[in-house]
Amino acid sequence: MNKFIVHGPTRLRGEVEISGAKNAVVAILPATLLVDGVSHIENVPRISDVRIIMDILRSLGAEVEWQDNVLTVDSRRITSCEVDYKYAKKLRASYYFMGSLLGRCGKAVVALPGGCALGARPIDQHIKTFKGLGAEVRIEHGSVYCTSASLNSTHIYFDVVSVGATINAMLGACKAKGLTILENVAKEPHIVDVANFLNAMGANISGAGTDVIKIRGVARLGGGSYAVIPDQIEAGTFMMAAAATRGDVLVRNVIPKHMECISGKLREMNVGVEEFDDSIRVFVDRPLQNARVKTMPYPGFPTDMQPQTAVLMATVEGTGSIKESIWESRFRYTEELKRMGADITVSGETATINGGAKLTGAPVKACDLRAGAAMIIAGLVANGRTEIEEIEYIERGYEDIVRKFNALGANIERVTED
Ligand code: EPU
Repeated sequence: MNKFIVHGPTRLRGEVEISGAKNAVVAILPATLLVDGVSHIENVPRISDVRIIMDILRSLGAEVEWQDNVLTVDSRRITSCEVDYKYAKKLRASYYFMGSLLGRCGKAVVALPGGCALGARPIDQHIKTFKGLGAEVRIEHGSVYCTSASLNSTHIYFDVVSVGATINAMLGACKAKGLTILENVAKEPHIVDVANFLNAMGANISGAGTDVIKIRGVARLGGGSYAVIPDQIEAGTFMMAAAATRGDVLVRNVIPKHMECISGKLREMNVGVEEFDDSIRVFVDRPLQNARVKTMPYPGFPTDMQPQTAVLMATVEGTGSIKESIWESRFRYTEELKRMGADITVSGETATINGGAKLTGAPVKACDLRAGAAMIIAGLVANGRTEIEEIEYIERGYEDIVRKFNALGANIERVTED
C-alpha cells in the first residue's frame, strides 16, 4: 500500500509551476482518434489517468509515444472501436471514446465505468446528443453501443450543464454533415481547450466558452501540434494551500482569467492575491475571515475546489459554509477532516464549518482525487504526522505533487508498505 506521510505544520513559501490541465488532456487524447494523421500534444501531465488513456489508445490500434511532457499519437490505423471494461472502470473520462470513436468509425462500444465516489454520474445528455446526430444507441451487457451509417448535424438544448456531454457532442459532431448547434453548454476552460485542439487539427467550431457552440462538420482532420492549457484546479489547490498555511507562494504558468472565481473568494476572505501575466502570488498578511461558497459550473466556483476550500475555512475563525450543487456525495471527506479536529456539520447539500479549531495530524484516507489534495493541505496545517491512504486517487490527477509541495518547504514522504 502506498501512503503519503505529511509532517506539519508548515508555512509554504516559494514558487510552484503548474502542469497541463488533466480535464483537458483526458478529452484531447481520445479526440486524437478523429485525426487522420499524427498529433503532437505538448504540456501533458505525467499522471496515471493519462497512462490509462494511452493504454486504451493502443488497444484501439493507435501508436502512442511519450517523451518528457509531449505525447505523440499516430491514429492513422485504428483496428478496433471497443473500449473494454478493464480500462473503462479505471476512469470516467473513458466516455470520451464514445464521441471520438463514433466520429471516427461510425461505431463505438464503450463499457460503462460503474460506481463513482462523487455520487450518481448519469450520461443521458451524452446519449441524447449521439441520438440527435443520427446514431442508434443502446446499453447492453454493461456497455454503450453507438452505431451510425452517417452522422448528421443536430440542434441540442442540454437539460443540465455538463462538461462531459458538451465535449462528447463536439467530438461526435465535428465530422458530421452540416451545422450542429449546442445550447446551454458548459464553459469551463477545458471545453475551450478541446475546441481549440480540434480547430487546430482542421475542425470548424465556434462559440466555445459561451452558452452556444456551433460546429460546421468537416470531412477530415489532419495532424499537427497543440499545447494543453495549465490546470486551473491544480493551480487553485496550491493557492488554497498557500492561504491555509498562511504562506506566500507564487503560482506560475497559470491563466489568471481562469482563476478569477477562486481569486475572488480568497480576496473576500482577506487573503492577498496578486495577479501577473501568467502567475499569481498568494499570501497572508492580515487576519482572515470566513465565507460562504456555492459550487457552480464555470465561471462559478468549481466543485473540484470544494474540499480544498473546506480546509482553508476550517483554519479561519468564524463560521463558513459550502453549498455543493454539482455532485450529490462530495462531502465524505469531511469525516476525515473531523478526525483531524475540524468542526464541520453536513446537512444535505450544505457543509457548515466552525473554523479556528487546531488541527492535529491523524491517519486519514483520500476519498477521491480532490478530497485527497485536501487531506494533504490539512496535513500541512495540522500539528504532527498525517498519514494519507489511498493516494492512488491523488496520483490520478496531480503531477509530482510531493516534489512540488516539498519545494515549497513541506515535509511529505511517499512510502510503500506491505
Ligand atoms: N449530468 C447529468 N446527465 C449527464 C451528464 C451530467 O445529469 O448526461 C449531471 C451530473 O450528474 C452532475 C452535473 O450534470 O450533477 C455535471 O456533470 P458533468 O457532466 O459536468 O461532469 P463530468 O463531465 O462527468 C467533469 C470533470 C469533473 C468535474 C465535473 C464538474 C472530467 C473528466 N471530469 O465531470 O472532475 O467535477 O466535470 O465540473 O472532466 C475531477 O477532476 O476531480 C473531477 C471529478
